[in-house]
Amino acid sequence: MDRKNQTPQGQIAQVVVEFLEVAISCIVFLKGFYPPRAFERRRYMNVVVQKALHPELTSYIHSVTFGLLPFIQKGLVERVVVIFYDKGHVPTEKFVFKLAVNQSYRSKLEEANLEFALRAFLIKLTVAEPVTRPLPPDGSWEVTAYFRSLPGDGDREAQLWIPTDAELWMQPPQITPIKSVSCDPLTMQLYLEHPSVTEPKEPPA
Ligand SMILES: *[C@@H]1O[C@H](CO)[C@@H](O)[C@H](O)[C@H]1NC(C)=O
Repeated sequence: MDRKNQTPQGQIAQVVVEFLEVAISCIVFLKGFYPPRAFERRRYMNVVVQKALHPELTSYIHSVTFGLLPFIQKGLVERVVVIFYDKGHVPTEKFVFKLAVNQSYRSKLEEANLEFALRAFLIKLTVAEPVTRPLPPDGSWEVTAYFRSLPGDGDREAQLWIPTDAELWMQPPQITPIKSVSCDPLTMQLYLEHPSVTEPKEPPA
C-alpha cells in the first residue's frame, strides 16, 4: 500500500489496524480458544507471532480491524476490546487496547519509532499468559470497539457497527496493565479487565 500521500493520521491508522489484526490473533492463540494447529508461526515487526489459519477466523479478525481504519484515522475510536464470555454471555476477561490519535499532529510520521513502540506490545502479549484467567467452558469471544463520539448519520460505513448487547459488570473491574506507549501522534495502552471479586456471581445454570 502506498502510504506516501497520506496524512500522518491516515498512515498511523493503517499501521495500527495491521498491528491490531496481529495482536488479536495472538490473544486468541494465547487464550487457547482454538487448538494450536489453527495457527501458524509468523514473524511480524521481527517478533514471532501466531497467525490464525482458519479462513473464517482470519476473515473475522481482518474485517473487524480493517473496518475500524477510517474511524481510527479520525480519532473516533477510544477502545478496541477482545472480550471472552462464559456460556451465559457474561464477560470473564477483556483485553483492552485504549488508543488516541492526535488529530493536530502534522509532522512526518516516524514509522520506525511507531513500529518499535507497537513491537513492545507484541512482546508483552507473548508472555502475558500468567496474568490471564482460565477460559470458562463453552464460552465465546468477540471484538468490540467503543467510539469516543458517534460518527455522523451520513457515514455509511459507520452504520455497519451495531450497538452491543453484552452483559455489563455491576462493579468496576479489576485492571491489570500490560503495556502503554506514547509515540506521537499515537498513544496506546493495553490492559486486562476482570470482574471485581465482589461482582455478584451468576447462579449455576
Ligand atoms: C498533538 O500534536 C501537536 C502538534 O504536533 C502537539 O503540539 C500536541 O502537544 C499534541 N498533543 C498531545 C496530547 O500529544
